[in-house]
Amino acid sequence: SLIAVLNGPNLNMLGLRQPEVYGRATLDDVEQLCAQAAERLDVAIDFRQTNSEGELVSWVQECRGRAKGIVINPAALTHTSVALMDALLSVDLPVIEVHLSNIHRREEFRHYSYVSLMATGVICGLGIRGYALALTAMADLILDEEN
Ligand code: DQA
Repeated sequence: SLIAVLNGPNLNMLGLRQPEVYGRATLDDVEQLCAQAAERLDVAIDFRQTNSEGELVSWVQECRGRAKGIVINPAALTHTSVALMDALLSVDLPVIEVHLSNIHRREEFRHYSYVSLMATGVICGLGIRGYALALTAMADLILDEEN
């Protein structure tokens, strides 16, 4: 089974960007963690990051018929993008939303998530380990769907 792991704007700056909020791990570290989790779970992953809302929307659309589920950290687009939410609604796949930080403990504008309106589940505040947890849960959801 293929799981898409999609990352939104500024996550390429992980490790340098506000390390007190997001930690010192880089996006390469996140990708490695996901690759390890995938191997353990016997699933394939397609790991990507973009700074562009349009590209992220296109990548979500491409998941239709190709992936079994989407793990997504939409970054700032979480709080702004109806287009991303609509794209996620269009693909008919389980979606797990991940945030490194606990968005509910931060500024008011981060409390609202368009993606949460459609996501199967949400993991936030656990740092990069949230990605591994999301992949474990997604592999489980996919198995459930197959049986
Ligand atoms: C984030 C939280 C968002 O509010 C923020 O815009 C990000 C990262 C997180 O992983 O904690 O870019 O999605």
